[in-house]
Amino acid sequence: MCGIVGYIGTKKASPILINGLLRLEYRGYDSAGIATIEKDGLSIMKDKGRVKNLYNLPGIDDLEGTIGIAHTRWATHGKPSKENSHPHVDNSESFSVVHNGIIENYNELRKFLTDNGYTFYSQTDTEIVPNLIHYYYNKDENDDEQKILRAVKNTCKDLKGSFALEIISKYDKDHMIVVRKDSPLVIGKGDGENYISSDIPAILSFTREFYLLNDLEFALLSRDDIKFYDTDLNPIDKKVQTIEWNAASAEKEGYEDYMLKEIHEQPTAIRETIGAKLDEGTKCTFDELDFTKDYLKGLHKIYLVACGTAMHAGLAGKCMMERLCRIPTEVDIASEFRYRDPIIDDKTLCIFISQSGETADTIAALKLSKQKGAKTLAISNVIGSSITREADYSIYTHAGPEIAVASTKAYTSQVVLLAMLAIYFAETLEESEVEVLNLKKEILELPKKLEETLKCEERIKAFGHRIYQEKDVFFLGRGIDETVARESALKLKEISYIHADSYPAGELKHGPIALIENGITVISIMTDPKLVEKTVSNIQEVITRGAKTLVITNQDVDAKLFDTVIRIPETDSFVSPILSVVPLQLLSYYISKEKGLDVDKPRNLAKSVTVE
Ligand code: M6R
Repeated sequence: MCGIVGYIGTKKASPILINGLLRLEYRGYDSAGIATIEKDGLSIMKDKGRVKNLYNLPGIDDLEGTIGIAHTRWATHGKPSKENSHPHVDNSESFSVVHNGIIENYNELRKFLTDNGYTFYSQTDTEIVPNLIHYYYNKDENDDEQKILRAVKNTCKDLKGSFALEIISKYDKDHMIVVRKDSPLVIGKGDGENYISSDIPAILSFTREFYLLNDLEFALLSRDDIKFYDTDLNPIDKKVQTIEWNAASAEKEGYEDYMLKEIHEQPTAIRETIGAKLDEGTKCTFDELDFTKDYLKGLHKIYLVACGTAMHAGLAGKCMMERLCRIPTEVDIASEFRYRDPIIDDKTLCIFISQSGETADTIAALKLSKQKGAKTLAISNVIGSSITREADYSIYTHAGPEIAVASTKAYTSQVVLLAMLAIYFAETLEESEVEVLNLKKEILELPKKLEETLKCEERIKAFGHRIYQEKDVFFLGRGIDETVARESALKLKEISYIHADSYPAGELKHGPIALIENGITVISIMTDPKLVEKTVSNIQEVITRGAKTLVITNQDVDAKLFDTVIRIPETDSFVSPILSVVPLQLLSYYISKEKGLDVDKPRNLAKSVTVE
């Protein structure tokens, strides 16, 4: 949560910083601010509310500074207010800091600083950071060019928790310092100028060359140089990485909202994720992986661990792993997994799924699994993200930047990648040859079938118009369709604020059917030929009780039974979520639009959840 941006160069920093924040606003949007180094010292401009409000702050246009840091906030400690907004300064206004993350021991440090004469003006955990830097700076008797860097290093040694920090000081008008631990931060290398951001898309229009910092590494940026240091301030070398995404892929390109654009990008995202890894005639290849038949045969268990939508992709992955590879597979919510003392040893493979690669609970679960001796594999959409740097192995979805808070193309790309991973395992194990062959053929046809599926947009929009004022919506499915029901219920509540719940259709009679009353909307997904009749029977039970029904199916059902039937192309049921979820993504989108809500930035949410 929270987005940070930094600039050091020869141009006016403030418009670059605000522009960067606007692109990062999906990470948090309850307050925003910038700090620049001006001729007469540090200038701090901030307020609660959206980033665009910064344009109205008196004096913002007069800023001349060419070095600056900036922040868009998702409140953790302290309500959204001007005082709690970043950047923060120390009492002497010598150091300014923006922070993404949570300082867990801030109470203890605040007391220490208060005892040493410091005063606090906000309720944030962050305000201790500039003051602690000031404390160490003052204590240091050496007056060399690394004095500020040493103060920052000593400060970081005292901090517990997660942080991505940018620091500027009135004592050094030509440098900026950045450091990170368990929170995202990338450094963009320009020509005579350098950039900082929480993620790559926000600064893609300036550069394609990036440096990534490991935990507790420091970077000292000047206009035409970047020096890197390890935890003890020994100089280290870093390789620049070139990113292939282009700036246009992070823009709306004529769509009203990022979410709608990202829903429509799914055929391309799936095509790119399949890439050259899969072909009908050859074995599925993952150059990044070297799992042997003996290793896979010896596995007692696979864990698929993730949060939110990524966890729902994991549920589809479980069906495929168990059926194709016959390896027991469990799906865990990362925030539960990390505290439930899971049974893990060297015969366990732990797979972590995260679009952003920065989700705090997923990273913590990964670290725990490594400590317990399991091999770890990360699935992420962001090259070089924290999770991929921690894991033993990493493979990538190639969905391109996903900006809307509600995940769409990342989910379908994760499902297709998990299907290919299951195929790779099955081929290595020499299992399920016939099923694998069929599945490969179906996967290769998915981009075309997705294009076909997207044609339901107008009918879905009309159904959305009928139900947008409802208070409750229920989603039902069996088998893999139940995983899509869960994902669709999450999507609807996230962006439309309608209460939505999902149930395995067979569970209805065991309780939830008590909630069904006249006029309520029940949406069901039916793509598994073996289960379709059973689900139809369950739906008839709710129709009898007055429910309005929408059915998403690729089977021949009696359309007269239901209010609306959306027919999607047939495919192997393992990968059917990639098609069946699409009408329901569109439904959530259009309901949110009908209600006049901010689709891309729903209330209380942030794109990447980098705190516990
Ligand atoms: O970046 P991640 O995939 O780790 O994010 C996990 C969840 O926070 C994310 O999927 C969330 O549930 C989305 N807002 C769902 O649309």
